[in-house]
Amino acid sequence: MSIDQLAETAQAMVAAGKGIIAIDESTNTIKKRFDSVGVENTEEHRRAYREMLLTTPNLGEHISGAILYDETLRQKTRDGKPFSLVMAQAGIIPGIKVDKGPVALAGFPGEVVTEGLDGLRDRLKEYATLGARFAKWRAVITIGDDMPSGSCIEANSHALARYAALCQEQGLVPMVEPEVLMDGDHDIDVCYEVTEVTLRSLFGALYEHNVMLEGTILKASMVVSGKDCAEQAGVEEVAEATLRCLKSTVPAALPGIVFLSGGQSDRDATAHLDAMNRLGPHPWPLSFSYGRAMQSAALKIWAKDLVANVAEAQKMVHARARDNGLAALGQWAG
Ligand code: 13P
Repeated sequence: MSIDQLAETAQAMVAAGKGIIAIDESTNTIKKRFDSVGVENTEEHRRAYREMLLTTPNLGEHISGAILYDETLRQKTRDGKPFSLVMAQAGIIPGIKVDKGPVALAGFPGEVVTEGLDGLRDRLKEYATLGARFAKWRAVITIGDDMPSGSCIEANSHALARYAALCQEQGLVPMVEPEVLMDGDHDIDVCYEVTEVTLRSLFGALYEHNVMLEGTILKASMVVSGKDCAEQAGVEEVAEATLRCLKSTVPAALPGIVFLSGGQSDRDATAHLDAMNRLGPHPWPLSFSYGRAMQSAALKIWAKDLVANVAEAQKMVHARARDNGLAALGQWAG
């Protein structure tokens, strides 16, 4: 796969007015989401839920790609059509979560490093044959007393860079996701500083590992106040701080940046993205790769009747995609 092909895929992922739906929850994470609405975490429920999401009529109007979990990439609709085929026919690029999740970083209590590099080359090869065209790896940076440590940031950046280089070798666009968690009572300035040092470290590591930025997408967390901070920054302040941080750390060669929602309300996630795009133009398209902020409302509807409510849940998925797609253009009406 040439760099031109990788770049083409990356650009399609951030096409104007489109973003990504992240439905790559691991079996443990989807259990938490299902538990919250009283749905039992069986393989069939996971399959039916992802079928509901992926077969949303006209989803491709506002959605360029979807990130799946290993199990989902191998599953089919009730009628026996592989999800990857459903997506291809809807013009939605299949992506795959390839990290194996965060584990405790030895020597640094309270901090984590993401695992999954062993055997990754062969897994990527298989994912490419199953139809995946991009991959995602999430690193988790925690803010707290004396945290994050430089060692934690460095270990995670190194893993992200090795993952990204392997993806490009195998013809997949790496989506690199260093998530600075919202948990904590820190203010927005602390989040800014941590996000800045994290992104500097990441782009240094990508450079050291010969990762071609033209074929890479950044999945970033926004610069926000900690969840438990007494003073919550408003929409304009979040938009301004996030932009300032990204502009001082992310090379313009990158084809695009997408945001995670990270526990923000649906409304906040959309409003923040919209506010940033109203302040444009920027060096890169800014769009979304939301998990919870794309799915929560639809999950609640679907959970009330897994069969009868499919169409209504899909309407909600489409509405969230449309709102976020408009926010990606700075045209959301609020
Ligand atoms: P949230 O938008 O729910 O944070 O999920 C995005 C994601 O893919 C986290 O890795």
